[in-house]
Amino acid sequence: MNKKTTKKRIAFLRQELDGHNKRYYVENKPIISDKEFDFLMKELEELEKENPDFYDPNSPTQRVGNDINNAFEQVVHKYPMLSLGNTYSAEELINFDSRIRKSIESEFTYSCELKFDGASISLFYKDGKFQRAVTRGDGTKGDDVTQNVMTIKSIPLNLTGKNIPVEFEIRGEIFMPHKVFEDLNKQRQEIGEQAFANPRNSASGSLKLLNSSEVAKRKLDCFLYYLLGEKLPTLSHSQNLATAKSWGFKISEHIKIAKNIDEVLEYINFWDKERHKLEYDIDGIVIKIDSISQQDELGFTAKTPRWAISYKFKAEQVETTLQSITYQVGRTGAVTPVANLKPVLLAGTTVKRASLHNQDQIKLLDIRIGDTVFVEKGGEIIPKIVGVNIDKRPENAEKVTFIAECPECGSKLEKHDDEAAHYCPNESNCPPQLKGKIEHFISRNALNINAGEATVKALFDAGFVKNIADLYKLTFEQIISLDGFKEKSAQNLLASIADSKQIPFENLLFGLGIRHVGLTSAKKIAKQLKTIENIQKASLEQLTELEDVGAVVAKSIITFFSDDQNVEIIQTLKQSGLQLERIENKEFKNKLNEKKFVISGTFSISRDEIKKLIESNNGKLAASISNKTDLFLCGENVGPAKLEKARKLNIPIIYEADFMKLIE
Ligand code: IVH
Repeated sequence: MNKKTTKKRIAFLRQELDGHNKRYYVENKPIISDKEFDFLMKELEELEKENPDFYDPNSPTQRVGNDINNAFEQVVHKYPMLSLGNTYSAEELINFDSRIRKSIESEFTYSCELKFDGASISLFYKDGKFQRAVTRGDGTKGDDVTQNVMTIKSIPLNLTGKNIPVEFEIRGEIFMPHKVFEDLNKQRQEIGEQAFANPRNSASGSLKLLNSSEVAKRKLDCFLYYLLGEKLPTLSHSQNLATAKSWGFKISEHIKIAKNIDEVLEYINFWDKERHKLEYDIDGIVIKIDSISQQDELGFTAKTPRWAISYKFKAEQVETTLQSITYQVGRTGAVTPVANLKPVLLAGTTVKRASLHNQDQIKLLDIRIGDTVFVEKGGEIIPKIVGVNIDKRPENAEKVTFIAECPECGSKLEKHDDEAAHYCPNESNCPPQLKGKIEHFISRNALNINAGEATVKALFDAGFVKNIADLYKLTFEQIISLDGFKEKSAQNLLASIADSKQIPFENLLFGLGIRHVGLTSAKKIAKQLKTIENIQKASLEQLTELEDVGAVVAKSIITFFSDDQNVEIIQTLKQSGLQLERIENKEFKNKLNEKKFVISGTFSISRDEIKKLIESNNGKLAASISNKTDLFLCGENVGPAKLEKARKLNIPIIYEADFMKLIE
């Protein structure tokens, strides 16, 4: 292909892929398979790699994110991002309506919209191209999260259609659909990281991740609900949104125009009942005067617009009976009281159980067996008991005394002053703790042994595997003697156990199940201390001094190694041939000594290759120039503003040839 044909093909592929993204993520009407999509994307990636001079920051290939550590720059909002006044009752809404009627004499209509529960975002477009995304921040200035937002596939990077203003801003809510949230939490728990409490926290947490390729994995989505600018296509808010939809934005299909407050109340009542059927969370309804000239007439108070208000739904609550309390013992020995309830329908699902968290919670609620309790599903996924209906308390309601002994092994429970939970201290003999430790050890991100909970139970109950080291002593005869195992499945299990001996040290360290040591901390500790011996002999001080290791983790490591049984298990793992030291990446060079780079422009090799060279030589990457930048690596066609900024901050500027010499 000659240059001209290549350029044409690249433009064609970009347009095609933008169109397919829109059909898939915005309109839910894909017309090609994922495989066909990947095929086109691959072709574009390759052409762009071979032709770096055709680089375009808004190309669909740029949506995968990158590993540049984002330092979010603060940006002042052109129009402040105000919040809305809240109401909680029909009465308050009727008052709002009366105030409006007094201020505007002519007829008006309301735009009724869902109030999405996520993180608000402001997107800025120029000449039909996405330029920047900024969080709400303090309302006056927010964080530039452009790189992260580019990974959200429903946000168009290049607009199509008519009447697109040269410059405009559009605001909306970034959210995480329920299904994505559930999958993410499952994965987080698997790697020992704390689960997010609700999709809102998860969306805002993801938006602030430092690494945009991680954000890309979070599968965020975004509804837009407010178009701003000097030259908007129409004088009606809802028409503007409809026009924005035609440009490629994801606009809710549930916007409704109401002629009066009764129609608004009807909309609210409808969604209060139906909201649980949506695939995402809403926490209320927003009503806005639809005409922009009437909005202007009403104006703003210091904090909120006078032309819009939100109605917040009450968390749905039901009454049911507390039938009993049982206690669950987890892998760490933590004992959780669980309320067993008379089954009741709440927010679209039948609720039979609710967590009572700990003893303090039981005391706080003053809950008795037989009580009628109020159960609520707030923003959290697990329902909670929020109170007791004392009027309905039966005379014989039984007081709850928190158990003193472990329900599984009978050991006396312990409580640490700084924690609300009770613990079973019998780490080495309490069955659910032992089984939990083995399940954790074999899990995907640890030793990745192909066996499930049922196999662990069978091996444990038969007395073959009492701790993780016993896995490596298992014999074919033992496995085949278990129910459900045949020759082939027994051999597969043994092969999977044998394979796990090659699992890298960091995953093994995570698999040991040391409290508070998730996969991320395990990687960091392994990288710095390198061998299990070094970790074992490190003092509390040495551990605390490690990068990214806090006092809690350090203390927990010390406690773990002070138990002779753990030391013995590790000794056996070593004799069984597992990886108890980190294998260094031989390719790793330290020429750039953690220097922070900002790169810009095009180079003789692709930007990805430049980035890899920086990282494999121990340099660091940042997205934008600041006084923390050590070197500005300048390619061709660098924007004058960036060069100017580097010069202003006295950041050394180097070119490709100098860089190559540096890492030679
Ligand atoms: S309009 C000046 N519309 O609710 C009016 N906001 O407390 C700007 N929100 O910060 C907001 N859904 O994050 C508007 N359909 C919707 C919304 C919505 C959710 C959020 C937004 C805002 C907060 C107001």
